[in-house]
Amino acid sequence: MIPFPESTLLVPRTLFGRGKITALPALGREFGPRGLLVYGASFRRSVAYGRLHDAARGLVEWAEWEHPGGEPTLDQADALRAAAQTARAGWIAAIGGGSVLDLGKTAAGLFHETAPTAAFHAGQTPRHAGIPFLAAPTTAGTGAEATPNAVLTDSNTALKKSIRDDRFMARAVILDGGLLSGSPAHVIAHAGMDAFTQALEAFISVKSNATSDALALTALGLIAAALPPVFAHADAPEADALMAGSHLAGIALAQARLGVIHGLAHPLGAFYHLPHGLVCALCLPAAIALNRTAMGDKYMRLSETVGGDFATVTNTLLATLQIQNPFKGQPLLRKNEILDQTLSSGSTMANPKRITPADVEFLLSRLFV
Ligand SMILES: [Fe+2]
Repeated sequence: MIPFPESTLLVPRTLFGRGKITALPALGREFGPRGLLVYGASFRRSVAYGRLHDAARGLVEWAEWEHPGGEPTLDQADALRAAAQTARAGWIAAIGGGSVLDLGKTAAGLFHETAPTAAFHAGQTPRHAGIPFLAAPTTAGTGAEATPNAVLTDSNTALKKSIRDDRFMARAVILDGGLLSGSPAHVIAHAGMDAFTQALEAFISVKSNATSDALALTALGLIAAALPPVFAHADAPEADALMAGSHLAGIALAQARLGVIHGLAHPLGAFYHLPHGLVCALCLPAAIALNRTAMGDKYMRLSETVGGDFATVTNTLLATLQIQNPFKGQPLLRKNEILDQTLSSGSTMANPKRITPADVEFLLSRLFV
């Protein structure tokens, strides 16, 4: 087992705790007197939004951009980049779920570029460093605040893919469990199962190492214990542990990559317009069975971490979170594209069992029942 990743990129500053979102204006001020705030509609309606403005008064100024919703697209990234230019922002702070964080990250990272976001989605490397990016997740979550990549969808082709650059890494992160308050239960469930899947896939990845394993297992234990109470009450005290677990899973996946669930979840989520975390959750039982042998001793460590047979505990968690399968009874569309995208995905290549077309067909057969 490799003890430490070959290269590690970490957020230089992370604030953790209830109410810490009010530290954002002072953090932003360190990067300049004027910034841009990106958020979703639910944050604008929250109590925290008012508190944030109170904390900013006389300290810092910002323009605001509200995410119109849905999966983040190249067009939305272009619109946000234009807004940041107009505002002459010195930094961008994103407060929201993975979509909002990925859009803010892209706009900050590409601030000094002139080419459309599609060019970078197609593989072009940014020539310049962008402006500082600050992130406060309101879901737990994608772990997008812990990684240097942004997942964006081309709405013309439905291709969902990462833009990645080390300089995209957030300069500061705020983990405030209070920001989960007000989230609908199904959003908590989907986001939480994304984090759970990410912790699992990072742990069993062929690129895992002793350091990422420690992070991934800690994440998995925190998420498995905290998700049911937070699903029942978004303002439960366990929200802080869930936020920490989701963040740790993000650090682990940045070090160790993911697996076939994420390889498959990208095309499925994009073609069927379903929440990413829901698709991950639905793929879990079959993917655990598929990888069981390749996991070796790691299966036992997973079971110890969640306090019971890992597959059984996962199924119980899915039932507790009332995860429903929307693929049931539906025709499987664009099968060849799904197979191609899954098999060529970097996530799939990190899966512990080498994935064949028959493996992907097996996973699909368990979804489209
Ligand atoms: Fe994910």
